[in-house]
Amino acid sequence: MNKILVTGGCGYIGSHTIVDLVQNGYEVICADNNSRSNEAILNGVEKIISQKVKNYKVDLCNYDDTYAIFQENTDIVGIIHFAAYKAVGESVEKPLMYFENNLNSLINILKCADEFNVPHFVFSSSCTVYGNPDSMIVTEETPQKPAESPYGATKQMGEQIIKDTVRGTSLKAILLRYFNPVGAHPSMNIGELPIGRPANLVPAITQTAIGKLPMMQVYGTDYETKDGSCVRDYIHVSDIAHAHTLALNYLINNKNSSNCEVFNLGTGNGYTVLEVIAAFEKVSGVKLNYQLAPRRVGDVVAIYANNNKAKTDLGWEPAYNLNDMMDTAWKWELRLKNEENLFKSQVAGLN
Ligand code: WQD
Repeated sequence: MNKILVTGGCGYIGSHTIVDLVQNGYEVICADNNSRSNEAILNGVEKIISQKVKNYKVDLCNYDDTYAIFQENTDIVGIIHFAAYKAVGESVEKPLMYFENNLNSLINILKCADEFNVPHFVFSSSCTVYGNPDSMIVTEETPQKPAESPYGATKQMGEQIIKDTVRGTSLKAILLRYFNPVGAHPSMNIGELPIGRPANLVPAITQTAIGKLPMMQVYGTDYETKDGSCVRDYIHVSDIAHAHTLALNYLINNKNSSNCEVFNLGTGNGYTVLEVIAAFEKVSGVKLNYQLAPRRVGDVVAIYANNNKAKTDLGWEPAYNLNDMMDTAWKWELRLKNEENLFKSQVAGLN
């Protein structure tokens, strides 16, 4: 079996991707120092795939420790690199911490990929690289505007580092630009584990609905959109996960037309914040306690994906609709509440 190294595999998208990779015949190892994740999520992964996944609890900013993973696994044929800090607000407060962590870890992984002749590389990027685009429907060729946050800047820089690194080498890379990943695996064994008060919309909705938060705010209802609230392209995390498997298949089967290709991962549908809340209330039967509030600094008004390239070239077809996303997100929140000890936080201060 082809062995894949998944960095950040204890994270939200990483854990769902490990499940999809194994269910599609790949052997997987994980590297995650759990600074922003909970290793216990691998218990949920193992419940789904009925096998253990080895995690190397390594800080990828430490080159020697990263190198040691490859020394022990000289048969790695592909890397999926998720490991990074991803909180937009925190990145504004601590930009150097974001540049140091997100870029040094990427550079170390790329150096090891070169040293050990690992041929395939998939990078966890984001629609945030488009900044505030002129047109709300973006293709992979849409020109990038300045990033709205240092977090977004690390994704823009990360993409450039990869493009420049693969040039003239045998390494082949794919950059996957996620829109807004939401929801949980249908088995309810894995899902999102936000650290502290969630900044993202859907965990804020589910934590408010379950009573962990007293209420939530809708940031801005005076935008030029159908109901005044921002438009985003919400995509189920399991659909995002499967795209990574398809991207690896694409590279391993030499289908790529260049050695660094980019794909948008969104449903191609845009929903406003108020539409997402209405969908949640319909699916859950819970009336959400929310307030209309001022705009959030840095928010893009409206963005959603033209996903034709991923559909055509990767054979990717999102399977989950908005109601499925709300349903699985809500059922996951209920599971977390019913089993308070399910994922005891390993990092002090985690909720
Ligand atoms: C969506 C909409 C908010 C919370 C960011 C990153 C992206 C990715 C996902 C990492 C916005 C509104 C939110 C709330 C609200 N990050 N909102 N009340 O900002 O589109 O994307 O997170 O992988 O790279 O840029 O996602 O979920 O924070 O916000 O009204 O309590 O929901 O204003 O319009 P965003 P989000």
